[in-house]
Amino acid sequence: MANPALSLLVLSVSALLFQGAWSATFTFLNKCHYAVWPGLLSGATSGQLPTTGFRLKTNTTRVIEAPSNWSGRMWARTHCGVDSSGKFSCATGDCGAQRQCNNAGGIPPVTLAEFTLQGADGKDFYDVSNVDGFNVPISITPVGKRGCSSTTCKANINSVCPRALQTKSPNGKVVGCKSACLAFGTDRYCCTGSYGNPNTCKPTVYSKVFKRACPQAYSYAYDDGTSTFTCVGANYLITFCP
Ligand SMILES: *[C@@H]1O[C@H](CO)[C@@H](O)[C@H](O)[C@H]1NC(C)=O
Ligand SMILES: *[C@@H]1O[C@H](CO)[C@@H](O)[C@H](O)[C@H]1NC(C)=O
Repeated sequence: MANPALSLLVLSVSALLFQGAWSATFTFLNKCHYAVWPGLLSGATSGQLPTTGFRLKTNTTRVIEAPSNWSGRMWARTHCGVDSSGKFSCATGDCGAQRQCNNAGGIPPVTLAEFTLQGADGKDFYDVSNVDGFNVPISITPVGKRGCSSTTCKANINSVCPRALQTKSPNGKVVGCKSACLAFGTDRYCCTGSYGNPNTCKPTVYSKVFKRACPQAYSYAYDDGTSTFTCVGANYLITFCP
């Protein structure tokens, strides 16, 4: 460009635009004593992330840049490997026998970290959810902003999982804990049909197992009061096995 003042202007405007479109970062930290494979699924109207799945070794982090209005969910896949026929799969959270999830969700039971960045009133909404069950403890910590709360499901719910909800690995270890909705599929447990609103869908003996272990996490679909957190303009640390 011939005019240096103009090129400077173009440069700063594009820097501004770039900042506007990509202003949040997610840092993933794996404190589990085993490798996990995070899976990332963007919402239908959200911008996309640069990756939808990767391996994260113990005690390592990975930083992902996100569009400032990103919404979607994240989870950990566990006990992943390649079988004798060369197929990659995971015992929990599998997203279709592939390393990148490519717009596939994780097969429940999975603990979810859910985000809507720049939602109502420009706020970021985030939560940890056991609505699709539990596989791995997860916490979300806003960074770079004062006064915003972390939320965590730190307990290993697999160790207190009722027998009827257990998901086991081939060697008999409990690797996941299903929600009652997933295990039994009834309207009462799924908050559907006549139970499809917050007045009729109440906690159950099963959802209470999750709530007792992880009071900050969603234990059933209408568990909003104690489970949704907000912040403005933060970056987020997602820790597996906090
Ligand atoms: C998010 O931002 C992108 C790029 O600016 C835009 O195309 C998309 O419509 C936005 N999505 C929402 C839900 O606002
Ligand atoms: C991970 O870090 C913890 C705490 O610093 C340490 O005790 C542990 O040995 C580390 N594990 C690995 C596999 O590096």
